[in-house]
Amino acid sequence: MIPPKPLPRPDRVSLLRYLRLFRDDILSAQPARLYRAWMAEFRTPFFRSYLLNQPALIETVLKERPEDFPKSDRVGEGLRPLLGNSVFLTNGETWKRQRRIIDPAFEGGRLRDTFPAIWAAGEAAVARMHEGTVDVEPEMSHAAADVIFRTLFSLPIENEIAARVFAEFREYQRTQPILNAAAFLSLPRWMPRGHRARTRATARSIRALITQLTAARMAEIEAGTAPDDLATKIMTTADPLTGETFSTEEMVDQVAIFFLAGHETSASALGWALCLLAMYPDWQKKLAREAEVLDGPDFSVMSRLKLSRDVFREALRLYPPVPMMVRENSCPERFRDRDIRVGSQLVISPWHLHRHNRIWDNPDGFDPARWQTENGRRCMREAYIPFSAGARVCTGAGFAMVEGPLLLSMLVREFRFERVAGHDPVPVAYLTVRARDGIVLRVTRR
Ligand code: HEM
Repeated sequence: MIPPKPLPRPDRVSLLRYLRLFRDDILSAQPARLYRAWMAEFRTPFFRSYLLNQPALIETVLKERPEDFPKSDRVGEGLRPLLGNSVFLTNGETWKRQRRIIDPAFEGGRLRDTFPAIWAAGEAAVARMHEGTVDVEPEMSHAAADVIFRTLFSLPIENEIAARVFAEFREYQRTQPILNAAAFLSLPRWMPRGHRARTRATARSIRALITQLTAARMAEIEAGTAPDDLATKIMTTADPLTGETFSTEEMVDQVAIFFLAGHETSASALGWALCLLAMYPDWQKKLAREAEVLDGPDFSVMSRLKLSRDVFREALRLYPPVPMMVRENSCPERFRDRDIRVGSQLVISPWHLHRHNRIWDNPDGFDPARWQTENGRRCMREAYIPFSAGARVCTGAGFAMVEGPLLLSMLVREFRFERVAGHDPVPVAYLTVRARDGIVLRVTRR
């Protein structure tokens, strides 16, 4: 038994069929050879794109010369009405300044301060979970959204504005499948792909709600009554180079990305981790035993949740929530004896890299113990990028590696998760890697 993997498409298909497949789902639109190739070129009449799997090439793009490979503008197009000028979409000097202000809020020491809020969200997730047949995907979205609101604004998801942002956000995703073909395949710029009126309206309404929260926080900071959470930290941090802080408008952009990047990704990973634990009950039993050490919001417990961390890592390997990232080369390059024209789309695919059969032992298998083997350790350094790498690495990586294992442990300590016949999930890439018909499990209290 191996964890669910989408069937690849045949090696050769027409461009039209490729585009159609792509529109449905970028994972099954890809041929099987991408799990073996070091680099693959896609030529069409409109564009060239290259999938890079060779660790040294990925290192060049993400770590050695990130400024020569900015984020492709087109990828963000679907997100711009919601995210404005957020750190996820900007490049160059604007991006650097934003990271200088944001990064201190996510440093190690701050994580310790944030821990009680993550713990409280975990307790709430356990309290909401119930026995029966449960689609755990929406449950995990709820839990991860709760984590973000509690850590950012000291508000539980039941807060009226938080609950409305969460509900509107689901609506936004329905109207705007964000990883769409236009963004990924770099269709020519003349092709119409404007945002639908409904999408724009939903984005406006989410931003109006976030503006209320941010403006209220600004007032509390001025009055000296603001709680010591991530929002306060970010809004009071001055750029060490210019001395400026974020304006309310710019903070709204950042809150939108923290909410989006912070809850969708963690929710996807937690859903898949529970699915894997249901498939491998021996591991689930070990995790439940390990979780007996949990007895209060004390950060030091994290060093004792080692199995949970390894399981969560393995879930991020098999189902990287961000399956592909796209960069553009701003100078001519030569990769693997091929000339890469300026403006080509360079696709880095954690999905393929993490299952590459020339890199990993047992690439499609579930084996959390691999992280303690030599192959696992080497792969972790060279071919494991669920949070990307280099200068643009995910700001929330450390945060997510606390949130994920902690919530997983809290849940399996109280509940047993089992497979339901006829409900094996099929992975598809929406905004993040999700299951086509949800992840339906049988839940019973331990
Ligand atoms: C399991 C959970 C998570 C995963 C797998 C994940 C993954 C990623 C990846 C792959 C990127 C790079 C995307 C690209 O370059 O195109 C990214 C960027 C980012 N993530 Fe995360 N993320 C997670 C959780 C979080 C959390 C909890 C937060 C914040 C609270 C967060 C905030 C961000 C931000 C702000 C960026 C943009 C960084 C930049 O471009 O400079 N993420 N994330």
